[in-house]
Amino acid sequence: QAHKSTNITEVEHKVDFDTRALANGHRGGVVWLTGLSGAGKSTIAMEVERQLFLKGWQIMVLDGDNVRHGLCSDLGFSPEDRAENIRRVGEVAHLFAQAGMLVITAFISPYRSDRERVRTIHPDVFHEVHVATDLAECERRDPKGLYRKARAGEIAEFTGVTAPYEAPLSPEFTLDTSGKSIDECVADLLRYMEANFSLS
Ligand code: PPS
Repeated sequence: QAHKSTNITEVEHKVDFDTRALANGHRGGVVWLTGLSGAGKSTIAMEVERQLFLKGWQIMVLDGDNVRHGLCSDLGFSPEDRAENIRRVGEVAHLFAQAGMLVITAFISPYRSDRERVRTIHPDVFHEVHVATDLAECERRDPKGLYRKARAGEIAEFTGVTAPYEAPLSPEFTLDTSGKSIDECVADLLRYMEANFSLS
């Protein structure tokens, strides 16, 4: 996408990243969940958010279904629209992280190139987490009945059915939810996040 903003000069903050981290007791950053529809991204993200919030962390979930009601309500599911969706969310997540907050994003984000572009915005604090539930299990769960609709030809370009999902090649962390309870998956991600973002 062409860069149309010209003649702009960045302004420096007087409160820096480390100062915010010290005040919060943890570093800001982005924990980027990626995985198929029904993999468990939102469920895990919302429970981890709740538990870290109770511990006093500055934490916020950005979720695909929610963001698509507002910021990205003009976007569909073509590769171009998904790229723009992920680009916008990446920029918003970056702003949160700069504010010292920890952001968990829960988007299918099926294309490697889109995720790698987000990584370049915040390489030091970007953690890609593959919610690696396989297609058969997601389709068995089908919590919103979307796989059934996609198989019936009622939804075009549905990830895993008629649109691709490119799994991460070297994610910082992998969560396979098959055969595990939600509580176990939440505990695994909590441990990972505390180990990587806590100052104490
Ligand atoms: S993406 O690919 O990252 O831009 O998608 P995302 O913003 O995460 O939105 C995924 C949710 O949109 C619903 N939905 C679809 N998903 C995939 N493919 C198609 N064609 C589609 N149409 C609607 C669906 O509820 C997804 O939510 P989750 O929570 O992943 O099931």
